[in-house]
Amino acid sequence: MLSWDDYNDDDASKQVIAAQAQKSAAEVQPPQSIPPTLEAQGAVAAQLLETQEAAQKAAQKAAQGPAQRAAQQVEPQPVVEIPAIPEPMPHVQVAEKLPEPEVSEVVFDGIQVDPAATSPSANLQAHAGDESYQRVTVDQKAMINCRADLNQLVPFKYDWAWQKYLDGCANHWMPQEVNMTADISLWKSDDGLSDDERTIVKRSLGFFSTADSLVANNLVLAIYRLITNPECRQYLLRQAFEEAIHTHAYQYCIESLGMDEGEIFNMYHEVPCVAEKASWALQYTHEISSPTFNTGTLENDKALLKNLIAYYCVLEGIFFYCGFTQILSMGRRNKMTGTSEQFQYILRDESMHVNFGIDVINQIKLENPQLWDEEMQNLARHMILDGTRLEVQYARDTMPRGVLGMNANMMEEYLQFIANRRLAQIGLAEQFPGAKNPFPWMSEIMDLKKEKNFFETRVTEYQTGGALTWD
Ligand SMILES: [Fe+2]
Ligand SMILES: [Fe+2]
Repeated sequence: MLSWDDYNDDDASKQVIAAQAQKSAAEVQPPQSIPPTLEAQGAVAAQLLETQEAAQKAAQKAAQGPAQRAAQQVEPQPVVEIPAIPEPMPHVQVAEKLPEPEVSEVVFDGIQVDPAATSPSANLQAHAGDESYQRVTVDQKAMINCRADLNQLVPFKYDWAWQKYLDGCANHWMPQEVNMTADISLWKSDDGLSDDERTIVKRSLGFFSTADSLVANNLVLAIYRLITNPECRQYLLRQAFEEAIHTHAYQYCIESLGMDEGEIFNMYHEVPCVAEKASWALQYTHEISSPTFNTGTLENDKALLKNLIAYYCVLEGIFFYCGFTQILSMGRRNKMTGTSEQFQYILRDESMHVNFGIDVINQIKLENPQLWDEEMQNLARHMILDGTRLEVQYARDTMPRGVLGMNANMMEEYLQFIANRRLAQIGLAEQFPGAKNPFPWMSEIMDLKKEKNFFETRVTEYQTGGALTWD
């Protein structure tokens, strides 16, 4: 049965969702929380600066070349003045020479390979007399810990992932296409919005502007390396770009409205109900993002599964829903319609992200049933309940009174309704019996057919390769 927020309840999803939800009274300890930080990882790239003397020689040579060829006809070229090259910034360290890497072994996706055999030509030579070499077959593909060639997209095994990639591409959009004029005049007028409505706009942009960066970082720095089939990786790349578009959209709103960017972008450090959600998610990124982390053991495979549940079921599947509902409710009342339209596109993308993640989780469970033991089920249940608690806390903080036809109690029931759905999607029993959806209009907004019709009416044209000039 299609549910209100399902983009496409496809066959693969039906197949993999566990048939039996198991009840368990055992409780697991909540994971230790860590302070919210976004410590950038990676090295500072060395800047190679040409000397002023070398630059002058090059410029003089360039100026003299054509003059020599036409020496009988033209006056000598005037000396070209080279502007001084500024000194390097004090915080930039310039490496004199990068050390040569010593390559004795290559570990690719947890599999140690001969570095001499990592190039296609080396493989060609290696396979020339190797009767054991075989092309990749569907049966060799696996969600995690796969040893088949990851560079070969076909033969497809996970058609649902490829289809979601195609659907994501078909729904491409960019933030600049949305007209923000009405929002700007409303935001800047003294009596356009109530204080509570202004708080909701600021909190939403504050939470989402960094939350989508957390999701993107988790995809690129943690999940991507560990999911070992090209179809899912193809979708992950698409999703990563969509997260960049979402972050762009929030920045575009913040800039258009002339907000205090420092205040908005630091809310995930400074506003407790926002900071706690970010902190909750980050612990799961830290757990598996070390370059030395690899799957292949029961404990590490479970850590990856935990990460997927944290991000797809909780962060994208629950943490986004209070803010989305608030902003879309504002749009329904003809307020902040540009911002609301941006959120509508984002919600449509997020709905697909969640459904992809649910399929990934269930497929991993199907291929690795040992991971889905009682301990893991209890942990997954606890994570979803804990996430629901944090989102209810966010709802109460952002809605101390009734606003926009809703209040915190209605939002709590809505979040319980969503939590039930997330639990059921990964094969666990619902925890909030009888919880109903108090905002049925949200399902209408997320109706994909309607969205498709809307997109067909767009007049914006993208700049494509055919529109570029090369002169
Ligand atoms: Fe997003
Ligand atoms: Fe997302």
